[in-house]
Amino acid sequence: MFALKPTTSLLSKSILPKASLLAARSLSSTPIVARNVMPRTDAKPSNMAPFKFSPENLKRAEELLKKYPDDYKRGATIPLLDIAQRQHGWCSVPVMNAVAEFLEIPPIRVYEVATFYTMFHREPRGKYLLQVCGTTPCKVCGSDEIFNTIKKELGINVGETTKDGMFTLIEVECAGACCNAPVMSINDDYYEDLSPSSVKKILKQLRKGVVPKRGSQTRHSCEPKTGLTALTSEPTGPRCRSDL
Ligand code: FES
Repeated sequence: MFALKPTTSLLSKSILPKASLLAARSLSSTPIVARNVMPRTDAKPSNMAPFKFSPENLKRAEELLKKYPDDYKRGATIPLLDIAQRQHGWCSVPVMNAVAEFLEIPPIRVYEVATFYTMFHREPRGKYLLQVCGTTPCKVCGSDEIFNTIKKELGINVGETTKDGMFTLIEVECAGACCNAPVMSINDDYYEDLSPSSVKKILKQLRKGVVPKRGSQTRHSCEPKTGLTALTSEPTGPRCRSDL
């Protein structure tokens, strides 16, 4: 039977002088031992639980697919992953496989989308996903204090989930709401102009099942705290639509 020889022995036998061989070997920077240190989460049997779209989500998925031409069904990969993730909580392999099966495309086409976009979670997460922005404007406005408050209140570090499965904390890059820094999102909602005390209040409310005030915690939208300095009178027109 034909068997491939290891690359290094092919190299050593022939074409490259010794110095080149060393250079070729140094191209790999990942120690082989790392493969054993970081087992894939999906390998756990509990993470391979079968997944099926619920009847309600199946209906939504079918409706969604009607918007795509037959030969471009794969264009629905992202919205379908979103539907599946909302149902299951995260994108396990069976979830991605179910999406691939629904779209009649190879599973790898779904894996490459789910592993590229950070909005798809490849690990189980808490009921509330706290995504705290740690980029410069938020950092300057006190995101470190926000992180510390959450860590202390919940007893977890960045990347961890509370034991009761309620909260997961992660750090994200700019959330696009810098004018209201510091900012965090919790699932689909933004919480802005945060302070340690407002963060404690938000966490307390979530624990009680109360929906906290969304958006800025201290002002209206992103208007200046001291009131508007521009756009203070009715626009004079011309208007682009008569109903505006
Ligand atoms: S830097 Fe935090 S929202 Fe932009």
